[in-house]
Amino acid sequence: MNGPARQTVTVALGQRSYPVWIGAGLLHDHARWLAMLRGRHALVVSNTTVAPLYLPRIEAGLDGLRWASFLLDDGEAHKSFANVGRVLEALGELGATRDACVIALGGGVVGDLAGFSAACWMRGIDFIQMPTTLLAMVDSSVGGKTGVNLPVGKNLAGAFHQPRAVVADIDTLATLPGREYRAGLAEVIKGAAIGDEPFFAWLEQHAAALAAREPATVQQAIARKVAYKAGVVARDETEQGERALLNLGHTFGHALETAGHYTALLHGEGVAIGMLLAARLSERLGMSAQAATARLQRLLEAVGLPVAVPPGMDPPQLLALMRLDKKNTAGTLRLILWRGIGRAEIVAGVAEADVLAVLTEATSAP
Ligand code: NAD
Ligand code: GLY
Repeated sequence: MNGPARQTVTVALGQRSYPVWIGAGLLHDHARWLAMLRGRHALVVSNTTVAPLYLPRIEAGLDGLRWASFLLDDGEAHKSFANVGRVLEALGELGATRDACVIALGGGVVGDLAGFSAACWMRGIDFIQMPTTLLAMVDSSVGGKTGVNLPVGKNLAGAFHQPRAVVADIDTLATLPGREYRAGLAEVIKGAAIGDEPFFAWLEQHAAALAAREPATVQQAIARKVAYKAGVVARDETEQGERALLNLGHTFGHALETAGHYTALLHGEGVAIGMLLAARLSERLGMSAQAATARLQRLLEAVGLPVAVPPGMDPPQLLALMRLDKKNTAGTLRLILWRGIGRAEIVAGVAEADVLAVLTEATSAP
């Protein structure tokens, strides 16, 4: 095989530990992932964009099993309870037993919904993540958060349900639109910004290769981000403490995404701008130095991510949206801020006036 050797990161959770395989050609490596199936039934959940591209790569491996596929329409709107019901019906039609496996082939939308469906069928069956977006490879496929959106809000119904294995075939990134790819890079940078300064420095050195999707560099970046996240998940699987740090930039980012009606910004773009706003707020509170904010901004810009709040957004409206965040306790904002690169921390009781000042500065004309 040409190209970099494949890498494996283990998510260490005792008897529920699982491998994350990262590399080229993994979807074709049927024997590897088939070995994780315990029974004879498999349901592949994918969507109408990804299945025509990549389902043929795994179909030959499924020969000899009783299997079927269920395809979602493309888009966040389809990560719904109604579609979980349809996946469960498909499992019923397949005659899926307790040892059946759900295979999630796609981005985070497919992975979250397929994983939640697997958690529900017979109170929990196996599932394998086959992420095909960079965001799904470095974030959503690892760690066992599964779920769907409700009309009242995103990701409000769900379960912790760890996969049996994650098969991150980097060949699939070749067809990913540039904007989606860069949104995934925001999640890579986020991991380094939270807790891994040497990785952040490595990303600075390799920003051009990452922006150009140089395979060996992309694979290395995925493996390092996954290793970082795997460590956090192993220490705090159900987010009783440390895992909340993975939300650096999210409170600002979700407010920006919502104010943009989920069309102006992709999630990763919201996280990129949100991280920068969190860095500026940390600076304002005397927690971190301007040099750290500047380094973050330079790296985000170097890989082509947006760093400015889109025009027309209103600071008081953004603040009101931030008040709805799940991390808040009554009446105060609880945010993930940092003391510099790789030193994020949870800060409770942040004064709204400081948040508003940062938002106002970010939305004022230069
Ligand atoms: P997505 O699943 O919508 O995929 C983005 C787009 O890329 C879609 O149009 C999809 O069809 C397309 N696509 C996927 N793979 C492709 C490929 N290889 N080639 C061409 N097109 C391809 O979005 P996403 O960014 O992967 O995931 C976002 C979702 O993940 C959100 O629902 C978010 O809530 C969730 N999420 C979950 C976690 C978690 O821990 N579970 C973490 C972060 C995000
Ligand atoms: N994406 C945040 C987490 O997995 O906890």
